[in-house]
Amino acid sequence: MDQPILQLVYSSRATEPFNSVQMEALLEGARRFNAEHDITGMLLYADGHFLQVLEGPQETVETLLARIDADPRHDHVRVLLRSQRAHRDFPDWHMAYHLVDEATRSTHPELAFFFSDDFSAEHFLPWSTPVGYLLLAFRAMSIQAPAA
Ligand SMILES: Cc1cc2nc3c(=O)[nH]c(=O)nc-3n(C[C@H](O)[C@H](O)[C@H](O)COP(=O)(O)O)c2cc1C
Repeated sequence: MDQPILQLVYSSRATEPFNSVQMEALLEGARRFNAEHDITGMLLYADGHFLQVLEGPQETVETLLARIDADPRHDHVRVLLRSQRAHRDFPDWHMAYHLVDEATRSTHPELAFFFSDDFSAEHFLPWSTPVGYLLLAFRAMSIQAPAA
């Protein structure tokens, strides 16, 4: 029954800083589309940078990535990880969301390394394993405090 899914992780930079109203609007549209198209994942926002995990049927994920890439609300979209897998890391979230702010940084000092610079691809590319670690750490937070 389980079809292999594509999991894709990218980072990008907001062209203008997002406020909470703009983020809510983005998430509302994203979650509606994702629920209808079997897409799950997580979005992190830190100091004007995004890190997003998209999971779902390969073609759907690739098409969505192309749409997201063309979105003028951000640029510098760089794919960091792309893998075929049997199971999803975020099966319960049509798009979990975390704002990575000072509070997150102080309550999770073990993650400070990841935010010492930003989510820029230059920062993450040599660290694909830590990216996986980071995402799983936030998945644990999603389980503790459901984000979607
Ligand atoms: C950082 C970021 C993440 C996004 N994530 C999603 C998503 O998970 N699902 C989705 O449908 N749209 C997402 N969007 C919105 C799409 O880029 C796009 O605006 C939306 O799919 C509507 O596309 P359309 O204007 O071509 O119809 C995201 C946009 C940004 C800037």
